[in-house]
Amino acid sequence: MSKKSSIVLLIFLVMGLSGGLVALHPESPGSPAAYAAAAQESVTAKEAPASTWSAPDQVAALERAMETVPFVDTVKDECKLCRQMRLREMGLGTKDITHNYFVINNPIINKVEDHYGPVRFMHSKHAAQVKDCAVCHHYRPLAEDASETTRCSACHQDAFRPDHPERIGLKAAYHQQCMECHREMNQGPVDCIGCHDKNAPDHKDKIQLTANATPFQVTAECLRCHKDAGQDMLQTAHWRLRGPSPYTLDHRKEVEIGKSTIATNNF
Ligand code: HEC
Ligand code: HEC
Ligand code: HEC
Ligand code: HEC
Ligand code: HEC
Repeated sequence: MSKKSSIVLLIFLVMGLSGGLVALHPESPGSPAAYAAAAQESVTAKEAPASTWSAPDQVAALERAMETVPFVDTVKDECKLCRQMRLREMGLGTKDITHNYFVINNPIINKVEDHYGPVRFMHSKHAAQVKDCAVCHHYRPLAEDASETTRCSACHQDAFRPDHPERIGLKAAYHQQCMECHREMNQGPVDCIGCHDKNAPDHKDKIQLTANATPFQVTAECLRCHKDAGQDMLQTAHWRLRGPSPYTLDHRKEVEIGKSTIATNNF
């Protein structure tokens, strides 16, 4: 996520949380001195996650991500090109896509490590770009009635399976396939934050505010830990925007607008 969007999010959260979280900690001390004294835990802006974009079907996608599928033991033995040709002859194409969008957050991987939130994957957009289902759906189960586009996690599960040493684990399968293609095509992210959002901690236990905190106190509370985000905010147009604008026709008067003036919302 860019600094700017992280800041905008921060502002919205401040506005929301000032109503919500306050009630959760009615007994906490809320004096400005307490905030200042507690200013130890600092968070740097460069650690900000890649994106907070959210699809309309995000909730369904997240639920889907948690599903596990039965392990597929044997795969159909066919060469890469044979499979590509066969799928093309079958007419398998974008009309066979059941989900435009996936979030990938597999329990098989997350039982070993879970440093990040779900990875978003624009399935239809990829299929349209790549044009060939077999590039990613590179094998199919042997069973006749099985789907040609079985989930990766049906065949790739734990790393180093003794019964299937030829198959890499699920995390490696994603990393290798996703990143290798991005590198080859020189498109799509290869850096970690291009795909990964950090798991932001639950703030319920972090915020210490009295029941009737003022907006200024809420901001001060966030700044206790998010000092850099606060500084970044002061560099944005949202903060610095103030009239008059020499570029706007008929708008050359001394108009004092923007948060750095006496405008509303100037917490
Ligand atoms: C092209 C996208 C992509 C890129 C780039 C990428 N990853 Fe991943 N990564 C994934 C996917 C997909 C998963 C599987 C997510 C899941 O199931 O939780 C994953 C899983 C992981 C996991 C295990 C799951 C977790 O939440 O801890 C770690 C750790 C990880 N990646 C680290 C990295 C690091 C470090 C980099 C940079 C060197 C990186 N990744 C780059 C796509 C990517
Ligand atoms: C860039 C790689 C890529 C391409 C190209 C691609 N897919 Fe996928 N597809 C995936 C990934 C990743 C998943 C999610 C698998 C998972 O959850 O483990 C998936 C899932 C699916 C699923 C759901 C499987 C299930 O059982 O839930 C279907 C159906 C599917 N793809 C069809 C297609 C079709 C048809 C095409 C070609 C028009 C295609 N895909 C092209 C990567 C791709
Ligand atoms: C029906 C089973 C099956 C499915 C589904 C499957 N794979 Fe594989 N995959 C295999 C097998 C088997 C190998 C080992 C190939 C070999 O022997 O070299 C493999 C190997 C790989 C490799 C290693 C390099 C290579 O291409 O051989 C990557 C990367 C990989 N799979 C990624 C994926 C991803 C990502 C998905 C989901 C889009 C997926 N696989 C779905 C069976 C499967
Ligand atoms: C066969 C090639 C290929 C594979 C495999 C592939 N990608 Fe991509 N990816 C692309 C291309 C091409 C783009 C650029 C598309 C664009 O921006 O129009 C892209 C763009 C992206 C983007 C940024 C743009 C967007 O749509 O959000 C993300 C995130 C991404 N890929 C994630 C993944 C993940 C996660 C996987 C593995 C599950 C993956 N990709 C596998 C080719 C691939
Ligand atoms: C006691 C310390 C603490 C307080 C107080 C706190 N945070 Fe956080 N916050 C964290 C930590 C630690 C992270 C995770 C590290 C990261 O993501 O950079 C985080 C992450 C976040 C994130 C997501 C990551 C990012 O960088 O964008 C947002 C948004 C956020 N906090 C908003 C707020 C808001 C709004 C407030 C005030 C109502 C607040 N925080 C108060 C410690 C705190």
